Amino acid sequence: MDMVKDKVAVVTGGSRGIGRSIAQKLCDEGAFVVIGDVMDAGLDDKETSSLSYMRLDVSDAGSVRQVIQDVVDRYGRLDILVNNAGIMFERLMEETAEEDWDRMMNINVKGVFLCSRYALAPMRESGGGAIVNIGSIEGIVNNPMHTAYAASKGAVHAMTRAVAVDEGHRSRVRCNSVCPGWINTELNAAYFDQLKYPEQGIKAIEKLHPVGRMGTPEDIANMVCWLASDQAGFVSGQQFVVDGGRTARPTLADFDAMEKKYEI
Ligand SMILES: NC(=O)c1ccc[n+]([C@@H]2O[C@H](COP(=O)([O-])OP(=O)(O)OC[C@H]3O[C@@H](n4cnc5c(N)ncnc54)[C@H](O)[C@@H]3O)[C@@H](O)[C@H]2O)c1
Repeated sequence: MDMVKDKVAVVTGGSRGIGRSIAQKLCDEGAFVVIGDVMDAGLDDKETSSLSYMRLDVSDAGSVRQVIQDVVDRYGRLDILVNNAGIMFERLMEETAEEDWDRMMNINVKGVFLCSRYALAPMRESGGGAIVNIGSIEGIVNNPMHTAYAASKGAVHAMTRAVAVDEGHRSRVRCNSVCPGWINTELNAAYFDQLKYPEQGIKAIEKLHPVGRMGTPEDIANMVCWLASDQAGFVSGQQFVVDGGRTARPTLADFDAMEKKYEI
């Protein structure tokens, strides 16, 4: 069964990591998918295949407007937007420069605003659509040193509800967010690389998860694809935690590890 057959989708930040997996899953389930990313996706056939790439900076209104227009020009419609592009850094509040804060908010929050804003009109004209925002469990619970990141993801979850409330009737657009836990991507590989004992670090992180492992990009892609599909037609304004049960089991172990690492 093709869950999103013939739908037209844009996946931001889809050149690697979670976004790449989401783009591939939507494509495998029958959609025409455009990856919008500042980084090239390294695809062989950029124009004609059902998985293609357009350069997009989600924090730049002109870039967003152009890509949405190009997608509509190419396919005649827009059905699915996955706001996945995001950055993360670890910094105490007092060490977070105003420019760091602005960069985080420009990509993680304003990016979601701009892409959703310019996607609404074509979605309305297509008879409705689905927006799936990639938030984080850190929009709900916090790791240390993540003031800016957590604030940005909290905003994403709040915006998800706002869009669902305003655009359900108006544009027939459903909007939901997915809150990944620890997912193995380039973003997280760098974390283990800098540890003194990476293997022990990996084991410690695995132990935080009741399912006994870290997440994969495919774990997130499966949830996103379902939310984007008509099977989720009565689902809107919600946040879906996909974290192997991590937030179901409060623990101080990760705080202890961070305290040792940063001597706080
Ligand atoms: N990896 C995790 O454990 C985890 C956990 C929770 C939430 N998330 C969220 O999932 C999303 C993807 O994370 P990931 O781990 O795959 O990260 P990643 O760094 O591997 O990939 C992020 C992608 O976004 C792109 N990007 C960055 N700035 C952009 C911009 N201005 N415009 C367009 N594209 C831009 C990058 O080029 C990259 O391809 C992010 O929103 C992240 O916050 C990740």
